[in-house]
Amino acid sequence: MRLVLVGPPGAGKGTQAQFIAEHCGIPKISTGDIFRANVTEGTPLGVQAKAFMDRGDLVPDDVTIEMVRNRLAEPDALEGFLLDGFPRTVPQAQVLDDILLSTAQTRLDVVLELVVDDDEVIRRLSGRRTCRSCNHIWHVDFDPPKVEGVCDIDAGELYQREDDKSETVANRLEVYALSTAPLVAFYAEQGLLVGLDATGPVDDVTQRAIDALRPFEHEQAVRQAAAVAAAPGAQPTSPG
Ligand code: AP5
Ligand code: MG
Repeated sequence: MRLVLVGPPGAGKGTQAQFIAEHCGIPKISTGDIFRANVTEGTPLGVQAKAFMDRGDLVPDDVTIEMVRNRLAEPDALEGFLLDGFPRTVPQAQVLDDILLSTAQTRLDVVLELVVDDDEVIRRLSGRRTCRSCNHIWHVDFDPPKVEGVCDIDAGELYQREDDKSETVANRLEVYALSTAPLVAFYAEQGLLVGLDATGPVDDVTQRAIDALRPFEHEQAVRQAAAVAAAPGAQPTSPG
C-alpha cells in the first residue's frame, strides 16, 4: 500500500499514521519527524530547516524532496509506505509521482484527507505533547499519558513542540490554506482522494480510516495475486 495522509496541522496525521502504518504493515515516513530529528542532532539539514519550521513556513521544496527521495529508496519503503506531511505542495506531489513511476513503475494507491475545523486544530495543538525518544503523540486532555510528562510506551520525556505557539499555529494554518489545500483538488482530480471525518475519539478515527482503506487493500491483494500468477514459472491454475 502506498498511502499519503493530508490535512491541516493538528488534524491528527501523526496520531493516525502510527496506527494505520502498523495495521497495513508499512513504514511511516513523517517529514516533520525527520526534520525535527535533524534539528535535535544539529545536522546541516536540521540547521537549514529550523528557521522555516520555527516560523511555521514550509522548508523549501528542493531540500524536502531530496530528503524524501533518499528515504523512499531505503529497502523498507520499496513495497509500500505511509507518507505523513509529504507532499505538501503540488510541485512536491508531481515529483512524488515521477519518483514512483521512474523507480518502481507504480503510483500512489490512495490519499486520505483528515478533515477537522480550525477551532479543533487549535484545541489539539495547544495541548499536544510528544515523546522525545519514540515520538509518540499525546494530548494533555484528549489522550493523556498515565503520568504527566512521561510517555507510557517507553518512559521518555514528553515535550511541547516549538511551533505549537499560537502565533506560529496561525501562520501554519495560513500556509496550509495557501500551499497545501490545492493538493486536495490535485488528488481529487486523479481519483485518489478519500475524505475522512477526523473528529471524535482517536480510536473512532482509526477505525474509520481502516474501513476506508479496506477496498484499496483488497485491490492491492488482487494485483499481487495476478503478478504472482503471471510470474515466469508460476503454476497455471486448473479451470473449474
Ligand atoms: P509537521 O510535523 O508535519 O506538522 P503539521 O503538518 O503542522 O502537522 P502536525 O504534526 O502539527 O499535526 P498532525 O496532523 O500530525 O497532528 P497530531 O497527530 O500531532 O511539520 C512541521 C514543520 O516541518 C512544517 O511546519 C514545515 O516547516 C516542515 N515540513 C514538514 N513537512 C514538510 C514538507 N513536505 N514540505 C515543506 N516543509 C515541511 O495531533 C495533534 C494533537 O491532537 C495531539 O496532541 C493529539 O494527541 C491530538 N489528537 C489527535 N487526534 C485526536 C482526536 N481524534 N481527538 C482529540 N485529540 C486528538
Ligand atoms: Mg504530525
